[in-house]
Amino acid sequence: MCGIVAYSGKKECSKLIIDGLKKLEYRGYDSAGISLEKDNEIITLKAVGRVENLEKLVKKEEIQSFCAIGHTRWATHGKPCEINSHPHNDCTDTISIVHNGIIENYAPLKAELERKGHIFKSQTDSEVVAHLIEENLKTQDFTHAFCQTIKQVRGAYAIAALYAKEPGKIMAAKNQSPLVLGVAKDGVFLASDVPAFLAHTNKAIFLEDGDIVQIEISTYKIFNTDLKAQPRKVNEVNWDFTTAQKGGYKHFMLKEIYEQPRSAQDTLRTLKGSFEQVFGLTKKEAKKIKGVYLVACGTAYHASLCAKYMLEDFAQIPVEVETASEFKYRKIAFCKDWLFIAVSQSGETADTIAAIKNAKEAGLKVMSVCNVVGSTITRLSDITLYTHCGPEISVASTKAFTSQLVVLYSFALNLALALGRLTQTEFDNLYSSLEKLPELMKEVLSQDSKIKELAKEVFTKKDFIFLGRNSSYPIALEGALKLKEISYLHAEGFAAGEIKHGPIAVIEEGTPVLALVPQGVLEEKMLSNCQEVKARGAQVIMIRDSKEKAKAIHIPFEKEFLFPILSVIALQFFAYYIAVLKGRDVDRPRNLAKSVTVE
Ligand code: G6P
Repeated sequence: MCGIVAYSGKKECSKLIIDGLKKLEYRGYDSAGISLEKDNEIITLKAVGRVENLEKLVKKEEIQSFCAIGHTRWATHGKPCEINSHPHNDCTDTISIVHNGIIENYAPLKAELERKGHIFKSQTDSEVVAHLIEENLKTQDFTHAFCQTIKQVRGAYAIAALYAKEPGKIMAAKNQSPLVLGVAKDGVFLASDVPAFLAHTNKAIFLEDGDIVQIEISTYKIFNTDLKAQPRKVNEVNWDFTTAQKGGYKHFMLKEIYEQPRSAQDTLRTLKGSFEQVFGLTKKEAKKIKGVYLVACGTAYHASLCAKYMLEDFAQIPVEVETASEFKYRKIAFCKDWLFIAVSQSGETADTIAAIKNAKEAGLKVMSVCNVVGSTITRLSDITLYTHCGPEISVASTKAFTSQLVVLYSFALNLALALGRLTQTEFDNLYSSLEKLPELMKEVLSQDSKIKELAKEVFTKKDFIFLGRNSSYPIALEGALKLKEISYLHAEGFAAGEIKHGPIAVIEEGTPVLALVPQGVLEEKMLSNCQEVKARGAQVIMIRDSKEKAKAIHIPFEKEFLFPILSVIALQFFAYYIAVLKGRDVDRPRNLAKSVTVE
């Protein structure tokens, strides 16, 4: 997983590429590199670590170029170091390529090229592309050599290439990794994602698998590997660029936590209308749904787990939830009349994409819940329900999670109504509570400084336990994941009833236990679980929606089913402040990436 930016046009572009790469650092930041074309030569600069390291090099060299490719890397093949950084060159340094994805057949291709005398410098799978182009250029021009190369490689890729002897020209290809064309007045951009060029143009073409792009100065052509033209629509992207900036907050994560009332509101707004208009299914089709598969990764998987409770409770249909990486490699006894729902913020998670493909092959209808318009998952899906969060920059997902829940809750309630499992009055009553979410979320946000103080009390501890039951169990998992991701501390979430079957053994004097205790039938049981761990020395922090005077993080009460969406915000704050107190790089935690586009 990596980020690519390329430009060919009338502007000096080293700064354009560097600025674009900075916007893509959420895709990985192990190293960065740039190849600049100048006077029929290619000059390549690379630096380990953040793009700002590369920026310093580029500023020092002062190279004037109008055609260049850049890359920010998240290592897959070969450790993060300068030699493995992109761009990669051929033997004569006349070709330079950047690649995002995995070339699955690189080993036999590399062996064959080595037999022909090519000398490889890196341990990457990507370098093989530069050498293949070099080999193919022996008999044809750049365009044909590039197309032949693409026919020879197998796997997932977004590739952009320069050739010193055909200046001003960039060739690019896409298969299973994102690549977007940005059409500006004075030049053409190519990037893994729109924010890379949004400062220059909002005209974007979302390339499709199999597309080849040829950019020459300010013009572009899109065709396939047989040079057959592929007509593609130019979209106007209406993301306000400032929404991708930090605003007044110290970190994107904090800004995104605070954006949740707005993203929930924006998402709720789009869920108004007839069942068919909003969910892309007729009521007749809905009645044929006998069950639901919910498949996702990471935080989106926790949203899916939570949605299971809502779908089974309200719509009374069976739901199977599984992580995409497991779903893909298991023999599934598919039920053809089940709906498959994929949940993904980015729409580019490779495991989720692979699981969707399985479901499609089995003939299932695919619905997705996604935040990124035009992303791969949306294009693979029969129906897409969008979360309207705007770009989520922080690696740890917050606003996307709560908006995914808004969409899935709305779907569960509407499906229940369509199936006659809720009366109109019951539906109206529940839905009006769901619509109060943005206001209720603001009340949780007002607990910010209280949660910060609690974090101060425990941030030096080594192990953290999160407990919940029923639909709060996935929130316990999510709370633990948030803390792990950004503070690097050991944290685990458990179904509270399970702790006596093993996990309670890890409780020691002072172990912080965060317990989700909503009102309702399980409140007593949760309180007993709190007593059990307290008796073993745990320091219990409760998250409650009752008016208890006891020291607890208070969540407003509206209806029981809203507790998960509200209480998770408290756990997001908790993880955030612990990470800040520990001096972690909150928005870009070590070893993680925002969007994992390799399996
Ligand atoms: C990565 C991110 C997680 C995210 C997961 C799924 O692991 O670090 O925050 O939840 O991918 O991403 P998706 O874009 O499919 O929701």
